[in-house]
Amino acid sequence: MVSCRGPPRRRGPPRRITGVTRSIRPLPAVLLAVVLTACSGGVHGSPGGQGVRDPYFPRAGNGGYDVAHYGLTLAYDPGRHRLTGTAVITARATQDLSAFDLDFKGMTVDGVTVEGNGARWNRAGQELTVRPRSDLERGETFRTTVRYSGTPETLTDPDGSKEGWLRTADGALALGEPTGSMAWFPGNHHPSDKATYDIAVTVPQGLTAVSNGEPAGETTRNGRTTFSWHTGQPMASYVAMVAIGHFDLTRTALKNGLTAYVAVDRTQTEASRQVLAQLPDIMEWEEYNFGPYPFSSTGAVVGPEGSAGYALETQNRPVFPGAPETGTLVHELAHQWYGDSVTPASWRDMWLNEGFATYAEWLWREDHGGQTAQQTFDQLYRGDYYDDPEQSKAIWAYPPAKPSSAAHISDSPVYERGAMVLQKIRQTVGDDTFYDIIQGWAAARRHGNASTADFTAYVQKKAPHKDFGPIWRDWLYGDGRPEHP
Ligand code: TRP
Ligand code: ZN
Repeated sequence: MVSCRGPPRRRGPPRRITGVTRSIRPLPAVLLAVVLTACSGGVHGSPGGQGVRDPYFPRAGNGGYDVAHYGLTLAYDPGRHRLTGTAVITARATQDLSAFDLDFKGMTVDGVTVEGNGARWNRAGQELTVRPRSDLERGETFRTTVRYSGTPETLTDPDGSKEGWLRTADGALALGEPTGSMAWFPGNHHPSDKATYDIAVTVPQGLTAVSNGEPAGETTRNGRTTFSWHTGQPMASYVAMVAIGHFDLTRTALKNGLTAYVAVDRTQTEASRQVLAQLPDIMEWEEYNFGPYPFSSTGAVVGPEGSAGYALETQNRPVFPGAPETGTLVHELAHQWYGDSVTPASWRDMWLNEGFATYAEWLWREDHGGQTAQQTFDQLYRGDYYDDPEQSKAIWAYPPAKPSSAAHISDSPVYERGAMVLQKIRQTVGDDTFYDIIQGWAAARRHGNASTADFTAYVQKKAPHKDFGPIWRDWLYGDGRPEHP
């Protein structure tokens, strides 16, 4: 018997824009940097690039440096929707640099220093180009401080969903997949550049500010409270988060010694009690199946109903817009291994996140008295998993490893068909090797980045005598519905 005909939709708003990526950009900031360099005479550095050539988000990230740490000091006044911030970015130059870019959208830049010296800067679209007083040398670690203020923007993704700074009735939710973090702090906003973080948020007394990592202090002065959070393991900026509101923050020790910090918006206390009580069991089940948990704390943030149009796997503690279903909690926690610890090299590798997290839901169902993953696979293949025939057909729209455009990186070919790829691997190698593979993958790439090619090579290495060629060809990269299930 099928108890669950289709997973809950995780992304909220309808996709308003189809097949259109953000391809028209204003002012090439890199040109300005080139001009500045040419005028200064005697320098040998060149500007870092204004993107890292992501196939879906070409302006995301920046070339020429690698961030090690973000120190963010934020203050938010929900009444006036006003954010003031200081970002201290510690990075290493990967080339001689005359100038470099940060991704930053909206807000007002009040000043930039590099190594304590005032730096020239210029803004064009989402690129904040910084020109330090003197060139930075390849290999050098340098500190950039950006002071900023204003009303942070809510950004609309190519698929129509909202991210960046989301206002709530009494606070805000700052989210960043795929590029929304540039609305609330300047940075190298591409998943390939992971860093540690210290985030301090000052809010009016009575409100609570929650972020990633572990609490690192709370002080109240003059009617305002500062909440500090420390993230000691590498984090991609798209899973950085701040939640401000009337939250009840609880800490629970899990059996393995890990602390779960769970923040629940006052309005969601009753509705989320049962599902959150499952968190320790889900964590234990996931560690059993995926291997040791990769971070130093876990938890969840349950924001007000509708505060976002989707749940998001923000590091350490995923965010839910209202009380989640069990499957969604399983999904977002699975992302801590697949997505947050093992992070895609580019947005094309999205199925390594969503295929795995979706497969985690199938496995949970299989292990808890529901249908097997193979049954879910069979229904999807036959087309009777969903009631809606359009939805059934949609999973064959494009191959998981080659999303058709930026507007479609979170559609069912990435999620469900991505999970089907994992079931194909399991069919080929059997359960023992399959669990070895998914655990080994999380261990091998822990706290790093990986591409689809890295994954297929890893699978092949773990089962050298199996032929995965047809699976990669038909299920991962092939157009349309494969001929055989
Ligand atoms: N990653 C979220 C999930 O757990 C969904 C999501 C939110 C998403 N924002 C996104 C996916 C932006 C792709 C792009 O399923
Ligand atoms: Zn997901």
